[in-house]
Amino acid sequence: MELEVAQVVSKVTVHDFVLDYCDRMEWAPGKMDDSLYWAVGQGAGIYVGTLNEQPITGVAIFQHNESYAFIGLYFCEEQHRGKSYGLKTWRVARASLNPDINLVLDAVPSAVSLYEREGFKRAWTSSFYALSTKTIVQEYSKHPAILLRKREVCTVPANTVDFQKLKSYVENVIGIAFARSDFLNLWITLPSHTALAALNESQDVVGFGVIRETITLDKNGYRLGPLLADSGDIARILLYTLAKDVCPKQKFIIAAPAEINPEANRIVTELNTDCVEEGVNIRMYTKADPPIIAAKYFSVFSGNIVG
Ligand SMILES: CC(C)(COP(=O)(O)OP(=O)(O)OC[C@H]1O[C@@H](n2cnc3c(N)ncnc32)[C@H](O)[C@@H]1OP(=O)(O)O)[C@@H](O)C(=O)NCCC(=O)NCCS
Repeated sequence: MELEVAQVVSKVTVHDFVLDYCDRMEWAPGKMDDSLYWAVGQGAGIYVGTLNEQPITGVAIFQHNESYAFIGLYFCEEQHRGKSYGLKTWRVARASLNPDINLVLDAVPSAVSLYEREGFKRAWTSSFYALSTKTIVQEYSKHPAILLRKREVCTVPANTVDFQKLKSYVENVIGIAFARSDFLNLWITLPSHTALAALNESQDVVGFGVIRETITLDKNGYRLGPLLADSGDIARILLYTLAKDVCPKQKFIIAAPAEINPEANRIVTELNTDCVEEGVNIRMYTKADPPIIAAKYFSVFSGNIVG
């Protein structure tokens, strides 16, 4: 039998196969990532390769706009690897895009050379750490700089802020315009997500932080992404505010672009004294790097969904 690759047309497949696969791979997917992948699918696509009616490969594309798309969630079931099934799935998905598009991905180190052959160039690295929410609350509840800034900065649910202001803030920091507002809107309103915006005295957005419950909350806690802020102290205020309302036994998985933002590195170090790096992703682009503001970038949006 030949592998048949097609765009996924059923939310059940996304839930039963894609989410289940991410979980088995210990990629700690968000509890409602199937809803997010489904929204992604409507914008570009999740492609699944089927052999003997069994799904065995997958790859997801999220097209931010006409000139920029993220590709992620690339996998082949272990027992079928090395038979060109992965590559075939990848090629079908990639062929759905305009060849001139700037395609971006977050690569595990072992896959970098493979993507280099496809024309991707390394940009920067993000490192994963598990931050204890108890430590965040202990460290930051009396942090002098935070207490000082808390008089100038307030945090509010992100869905109560002017949406265009929030969208512009995010786009400015991550260097990419979202053509599809529906996705950002979902990101800040899904029930398993807590999304906060930080506002200054003029009501300008000066930070944005989201945690989302993982599918295995007891084991993996929450994913923190994105965490964007005008300064390290505003990032600390958002972290503290997000952490203080969750169970103290929980943890946040941060994907910190510590290589390009020294202040993100400082935060990770002060909260994680052992500083055990749990993994690394290498951001890669096929065209020029978008103009991100590295000093405001504390945790990437989401590894597998939008970049
Ligand atoms: C990466 C993965 C999807 C590849 O699937 P696969 O079916 O085993 O790969 P294939 O058999 O299609 O590979 C055939 C050839 O194409 C290459 N190839 C595969 N995917 C490719 C891609 N996206 N771009 C360029 N080359 C690719 C392979 O390296 C191999 O080259 P070789 O013959 O010179 O060794 C699979 O190993 C996997 O699921 N890994 C675990 C999940 C993971 O790490 N995903 C990547 C996260 S960034």
